[in-house]
Amino acid sequence: MLLKGKTAIVTGASRGIGKAIALGLAREGAQVVLAARSAVSREGGLEGSIQETAASVEALGGQALPVQCDVTQEESVQAMVQAALAAFGTVDILVNNAGVAFFYPITETPLKRWETVLRVNLTGAFLCARAVLPAMIARKKGSIINISSLAADERDAGTVPTGVAYGVAKAGLDRFTYGLAVEVGQFNIAVNGLKPKEPVDTEGMRFWTKPEERQGWVSADKMVKCALFLAAQDASGVTGTVSTDEELSLWHGL
Ligand SMILES: NC(=O)c1ccc[n+]([C@@H]2O[C@H](COP(=O)([O-])OP(=O)(O)OC[C@H]3O[C@@H](n4cnc5c(N)ncnc54)[C@H](OP(=O)(O)O)[C@@H]3O)[C@@H](O)[C@H]2O)c1
Repeated sequence: MLLKGKTAIVTGASRGIGKAIALGLAREGAQVVLAARSAVSREGGLEGSIQETAASVEALGGQALPVQCDVTQEESVQAMVQAALAAFGTVDILVNNAGVAFFYPITETPLKRWETVLRVNLTGAFLCARAVLPAMIARKKGSIINISSLAADERDAGTVPTGVAYGVAKAGLDRFTYGLAVEVGQFNIAVNGLKPKEPVDTEGMRFWTKPEERQGWVSADKMVKCALFLAAQDASGVTGTVSTDEELSLWHGL
């Protein structure tokens, strides 16, 4: 097992790519801290909850700690990381996966939506990274993975209509990845960004699309494989990169 005995926090682990990565980490022997707002499935909301993901991890024989957390709230993030440290003693891996999109033109984007998109996708990653870094720095080891999007670079309509706030947040996240990798390399901590090359079939993506727009969608399998590879890195290996799952697979023969 690649990650036996390691502790990983995955934000946005109640559904979609985050849930798939959490299960992948557990299959490789990591204890997983599942952080998201949905403790249980909400009526009328998107399917999935951290309790359900925890049950799936346990069904694999893995160890899970579901912690309700809103990544935009500093106190909520601090409490989630403290719960992880209390349960498992340290944090080796952080996957900043929590994300929200708002696929409307700028003229139809209220300030509140703009700010929410930036706070979840970008500020959330900053808050979570800052909260786990003291434990990683103390042990001189760690891996942080920021889940980004091709929307960071897209300048046309893309395969799905891409809200500008979302693209701006992900572009910021990529820059955050490069900057943080430089800062924490001296502590042997790897920081990498990972984005899907093809749209991944998730509850969130279904919410924003019509059935006829869902051609070419893939499962989260390739993202999971790449996330596991990055989770096993420290600064002596792969760090400071932002790549698609396809690129990373080609570069490293995954
Ligand atoms: N699917 C794709 O094709 C695709 C493409 C490019 C990039 N991505 C990126 O991949 C990541 C996962 O996407 P997905 O498609 O799996 O999305 P999804 O199905 O909508 O899941 C999003 C996750 O983020 C969590 N989340 C949202 N706001 C949060 C908050 N304030 N605090 C904590 N957790 C929060 C949600 O949990 P709660 O609602 O329970 O809080 C949920 O677990 C995102 O960063 C997304 O931008 C996805």
